[in-house]
Amino acid sequence: MGTAVEFDQQLLIDTLKTERKYSNLPFSLHIFDSLASTNQTLWELLNQGAKPGTVVIATQQTAGRGQWGRQWVSPTGGLYLSVAITPKLAATDGYQLTLASAWGITTQLQKCGVNVGIKWPNDLVLSGRKLGGILTETKVHQGQISQAVIGVGINWTNPVPETGINLKLWQESQNFRTIPCLEVLTSTVLLGIEAGIECLTQGGIDILLSNYVNLLTNMGDQVYVNNLLGTVVGVNSQGNLRLKMTTQNTNSLTTPEIVLEPGTISLGYRRSSVKEF
Ligand code: BTN
Repeated sequence: MGTAVEFDQQLLIDTLKTERKYSNLPFSLHIFDSLASTNQTLWELLNQGAKPGTVVIATQQTAGRGQWGRQWVSPTGGLYLSVAITPKLAATDGYQLTLASAWGITTQLQKCGVNVGIKWPNDLVLSGRKLGGILTETKVHQGQISQAVIGVGINWTNPVPETGINLKLWQESQNFRTIPCLEVLTSTVLLGIEAGIECLTQGGIDILLSNYVNLLTNMGDQVYVNNLLGTVVGVNSQGNLRLKMTTQNTNSLTTPEIVLEPGTISLGYRRSSVKEF
């Protein structure tokens, strides 16, 4: 499955140290050539006593996991990483970790000049195409999250489907190269996750949500749900999409709000302004 790609661990460490401006790294790095899934390996390491901050990176995955039980096709050239954290969150708030990571990574990429946005709930989009995705998995004890694994896949030079885009080619098309290699992209993503989780734990969910919604490419989109037209107006603290529905009562127009859970609809990558579900 593809040729082996060298991953320069020292370059990643040096980049992280430079970017974080002090030398104590909160990450313990485990880098592999090929794994079934970085999320799976990280859970195995956690079961053997690995600490929060443990990071697993693979140059390819043979059974990468995507959202909603899908496969995440993971040939060499892509970024595949998972980070372990122990957030203080109720089991019902686990989706906040995905929102926080999406916001943090997107913000960090934007600082590098990459004009990326978020497609609800967990996609990173660039030029209307999917650049990457996030899969958070949690272990719950007595209603609280005891451990969480945040998995991120980003298209760097790997082949992508028609709805996807890879970052290296995109940078070349824009004539800039602020992210020159996979190691710098990895550092950018790790710093983004760190910033996102810090925003959630220090600032709280309301601040995180307003930051997240600012980067949401779906705001104002019109969507049909059960033949009724709704407009995307935000996301709530469970990660549900908020829609204002337009309904015609006997003689007045009302706009009640409904929420849709992640996974119940897909907002797609079509460019038409009104989507139907
Ligand atoms: C999505 O479906 O959009 C989320 C994809 C998440 C893929 C990443 S790749 C690294 C980590 N390990 C996995 O098995 N999945 C996540």
